[in-house]
Amino acid sequence: MDKLTPRQSFTTVTDLVLPSETNPLNNLFGGELLARMDRAASIAARRHCRRIVVTASVNHVAFNRSVPLGSVVTIEAQVSRAFKSSMEVYMDVWIEDRESGDRAKANEAIYSFVAVDDTGRPVTIPPIHPETEVEKERYDAALRRKQLSLVLAGKMKAKDATELAALFE
Ligand SMILES: CC(C)(COP(=O)(O)OP(=O)(O)OC[C@H]1O[C@@H](n2cnc3c(N)ncnc32)[C@H](O)[C@@H]1OP(=O)(O)O)[C@@H](O)C(=O)NCCC(=O)NCCS
Repeated sequence: MDKLTPRQSFTTVTDLVLPSETNPLNNLFGGELLARMDRAASIAARRHCRRIVVTASVNHVAFNRSVPLGSVVTIEAQVSRAFKSSMEVYMDVWIEDRESGDRAKANEAIYSFVAVDDTGRPVTIPPIHPETEVEKERYDAALRRKQLSLVLAGKMKAKDATELAALFE
């Protein structure tokens, strides 16, 4: 299989925040942002492997900054690491200032997807080759995050999560 780069899966989704998507403080409802990120991330995962993909886990979400009603929100997603059938997708969320057009980082998130066949069985995906420094950092840390996700899901014993354990040594 050819080696692909994270950039080839890059996906950007821009949309408005409407009144029906806000909480009583007139900020974007967290679940709405999770759904938007799931859609953007699934497109990035699909672009990497060109297969059906399903969300396996939401590994990390930081709601660092609220997103007010009327905001223009841009989600940038790209695959940070491909394993055998699973992929990590890293997302940055930006809000655009109406007058200046300047962008401010609002949130970031990391989701995991699995490529499956028509019957829902995991299938092998192409490897990925990080190019930039940021891509390399995200690639290196992805294995630890995968192990943490599997341990929390009860699919891996903590003693087998060697890369994760090495963080605490
Ligand atoms: C995700 C799913 C395909 C995994 O199936 P499975 O039977 O656990 O398959 P496996 O154990 O062979 O795991 C397949 C891959 O998923 C990874 N995986 C499974 N659970 C994971 C988790 N919680 N976090 C990260 N990766 C996970 C495994 O590590 C493996 O990765 P690899 O092949 O790259 O090494 C299956 O659990 C599923 O279909 N879940 C429902 C998905 C869904 O409907 N999502 C939408 C939610 S509404």
